[in-house]
Amino acid sequence: MTLRLFRAELLSVATDPRDDPEAIRHEPDGLLVVEDGLVVARGDHATLAPRYAGLPVERLAGIVVPGFVDAHVHYPQMDRIASHGEQLLDWLERHIFPAEMAFADPVHAASVADAFLTELLRNGTTSALVFPTVHPGSVDALFAAALDRRMRIVSGKVLMDLGPKDLRDTPEGARADSEELIHRWRGRGRLGYAVTPRFALTSSDEQLRQAGALLDAHPDVLLHTHLAENKYECAAVAERFPHAHDYLDVYDRFGLVGPRSVFAHGIHLPDRSCARLAAAGAGIAVCPTSNLFLGSGFFDFGQADAHRLRLGLGSDIGAGTSFSLLHTAGVAYQAALAREVRLDPFRALYLATGGSAALLGIADRVGGLLPGQEADFVLLDDAATPLLARRTAGADLATRLFAMQVLGDDRTVRRTYVMGECAWDRGIG
Ligand code: GUN
Ligand code: ZN
Repeated sequence: MTLRLFRAELLSVATDPRDDPEAIRHEPDGLLVVEDGLVVARGDHATLAPRYAGLPVERLAGIVVPGFVDAHVHYPQMDRIASHGEQLLDWLERHIFPAEMAFADPVHAASVADAFLTELLRNGTTSALVFPTVHPGSVDALFAAALDRRMRIVSGKVLMDLGPKDLRDTPEGARADSEELIHRWRGRGRLGYAVTPRFALTSSDEQLRQAGALLDAHPDVLLHTHLAENKYECAAVAERFPHAHDYLDVYDRFGLVGPRSVFAHGIHLPDRSCARLAAAGAGIAVCPTSNLFLGSGFFDFGQADAHRLRLGLGSDIGAGTSFSLLHTAGVAYQAALAREVRLDPFRALYLATGGSAALLGIADRVGGLLPGQEADFVLLDDAATPLLARRTAGADLATRLFAMQVLGDDRTVRRTYVMGECAWDRGIG
């Protein structure tokens, strides 16, 4: 048994502060007690410390928050970040599909997977729902690297039988590969599986049916795909599926809309879709830096909140422009304001932690830094740059948190801990 005591300022928002007045937990001088990678106690230092008298305490300078949970990110796209000039469909053709073809090579996949997980940790992200490529080997590479680092990663082979010539599977082959991957990786470390049709345009009806069958056969796996991101994409979906009520209905007809479903974007949603998402308990991964970069639009938080949709936050690398969910939270604020909604900084922190964790079905394990949960946490530095230091000096908690969201990024992450062990240290690398 290993017991570790950390003394620091502690902040977490495990549940949506819109619904729960007790959601924000803040100990200006807190104590976090970790036993064998799990939080066993957390509270005010003066109150809790006597219980652990005589044990060594590690003092952490900065604000400790739960490890960030990225609810939508593509690891094979990290080296195509900042690709110029196109909206979604042309960007896929010109920049992304060629890059993904290289993942047929398992050595390439392993090397990018390793760099990707390091980048997540540098940015304080300890859990993520990840798109790999169509190649089963791309899943093996990511899961092997995540297992090594004890990270909580959910992923699954991309299904795309209507993809470009060298990036295509078949409904039967994809089904068999997915079954094999589920059996190979299920229950290992902190890994989870997600059935991952790329989007409606790259799968045949038969493949979407197979995706539904996989979900039915495996009650522990998620469904992860894209939804209503770009206006030209939406028009193409409406043309191919003239009988569907709306884009979401395409997925619904194949049994892909339920409480285990995570849809990225949802920029162009009719109210009917929102009502159905809410009734099904499905979630949206909001990806504001991506939506800005590809000119997709601004997520409508007002509409989503009116329907009480479950939301998380995604970087959507490589359409997204930052791995940092702190920065992504700052851009979410700006996107919300463009549609006249004021996103509260504590709610933004919730979306990047507990909200995303709920979408991934792991909110009992991570996202709140609560007793019983796994001790994934980030030590933030609210004086990481001279400008941040000036803005946060003597400021209240909400101001400091908001400043870190607007001005912060990987520089703001001093250390990242996975299961109570330091996995990234800004000073060491
Ligand atoms: N829709 C289908 N594929 C993709 C992708 O790779 N990135 C984004 N942002 N949207 C998609
Ligand atoms: Zn995406």
